[in-house]
Amino acid sequence: MDKNNIILIGFMGVGKGTVARAIYALNGSFCIDTDDVIESLTKTRIKDIFENKGEAYFRGLEKDCASWLIKSIDNTVISTGGGFYKQEQLKEIGKVVYLESSFDEILYRINSCPNAQKKLQKRPLLQDLEEAKKLFNSRVNEYKKVADLIVNVERKEPKDIACEIFSKLRK
Ligand code: S3P
Repeated sequence: MDKNNIILIGFMGVGKGTVARAIYALNGSFCIDTDDVIESLTKTRIKDIFENKGEAYFRGLEKDCASWLIKSIDNTVISTGGGFYKQEQLKEIGKVVYLESSFDEILYRINSCPNAQKKLQKRPLLQDLEEAKKLFNSRVNEYKKVADLIVNVERKEPKDIACEIFSKLRK
């Protein structure tokens, strides 16, 4: 049976959590974040999971999270970690919305936050910006390929992005 979830995918720092909360403000849809679910389940920060157990272990936790979402979650907005789009069962979770932005605009967005340093530090794959840009370039087409809907988010207000997602999903 088709689920009524919205899954927000996109690169680190593009604003998936912020847009999920804007959707909640718009229509009351509850939202969850896959990284938050993993942190709460393991009682460990993502950064520490990467450091102590490695990336492959983290990807395994994302897979478990995907299975749980399919089994247990409906009528919810789900923001995801930047690599979650690789889950084979992604489409079974709900409608996939790619928040699109250039790499430079993502850096601009992060650096415009008062807590920019914290946002950068908590993301293991954003420590080396040259490597992060390569990762971004390697993913852009894959994000687009799995998306049911692509919404450009550059310099837009979260509430406008939330409205755009709704009006386009309704069509
Ligand atoms: C990752 C993105 C992060 C987090 C982890 C890996 C990625 O989430 O899941 O550090 O592979 O792009 P955000 O996209 O919320 O930063």
